[in-house]
Amino acid sequence: MIGVFDSGHGGLTVLQALEHHLPRQQFVYLGDHGHAPYGNRAPDEIYALTLDAIERLFHLGCPLVVLACNTAAATGLRRLQQTWLPDRYPNRRVLGVLVPMVEAITGMPWMADIRTGQRGGRKRTVAIFATRHTVTSGAYLQEIGKRAPEITVVQQACPILVELIESAAPAAIVARAVRRYAALLMRRLNGVAPDAVILGCTHYPLIADLFAAHLPPGVEILSQPDITARSLAAYLVRHPVFGRATQTRPAASLFYTTGPAGSVSALASRFYGKTADFKALPKAT
Ligand code: DGL
Repeated sequence: MIGVFDSGHGGLTVLQALEHHLPRQQFVYLGDHGHAPYGNRAPDEIYALTLDAIERLFHLGCPLVVLACNTAAATGLRRLQQTWLPDRYPNRRVLGVLVPMVEAITGMPWMADIRTGQRGGRKRTVAIFATRHTVTSGAYLQEIGKRAPEITVVQQACPILVELIESAAPAAIVARAVRRYAALLMRRLNGVAPDAVILGCTHYPLIADLFAAHLPPGVEILSQPDITARSLAAYLVRHPVFGRATQTRPAASLFYTTGPAGSVSALASRFYGKTADFKALPKAT
């Protein structure tokens, strides 16, 4: 079984793509709805909540967990992969959404800066919409810069978007917020359209059409679900032990939440496109 974790509903956009690209894998989804949104919390708190969620998925029988949350990945994925995981769970793995996106945007493998030092791609500008915390962490800025310094990265934090999406706010309010964030971005860019835009929060693919409507026409919008799913499929070819494909189509994905299961399930189909019957897990303190 493969675990998928997000602070709330956003990771369901990734789960949908994982199921599509890896139809023979069984997935278990955990949303920490009881603590969402993460984006405006302190880094140490996000880190502690993330470890707790990953541990729960390990205990549910997942040797591999996909951290389908940019905020959690930008805050602590490297730290947990370098210290906590090897100490506590040396035979388990945690993969994020940031690495596949950086590889896709730079066209460079993650280890390229260390191994080859190759440089010299096309000059272009990439804009990133993300939570305040992902923006402040500078993770995308640094990781893209190391591999492709010719790319200018411009970030725009969207502090209230996750909250609006999680609370199923009226469409007009969400649209107004996106319009404001798009306008702020365009001001930073002095009105010049970027070559590509990254939706650097797994909640945002759900409102990709709003971003497209409020950005200059023709801007390429990269969202993470498919990019993450392709990257995971390639990882499992290299490391089959972390995802034993079933011979027949597996059972439907399983869903757990630290929030109220009833209302979480009711909202989930908007993100997932079909019914998701969440079971409640006790919230970590
Ligand atoms: N989906 C999470 C992300 O990708 C949202 C984090 C939050 O809860 O603010 O960043």
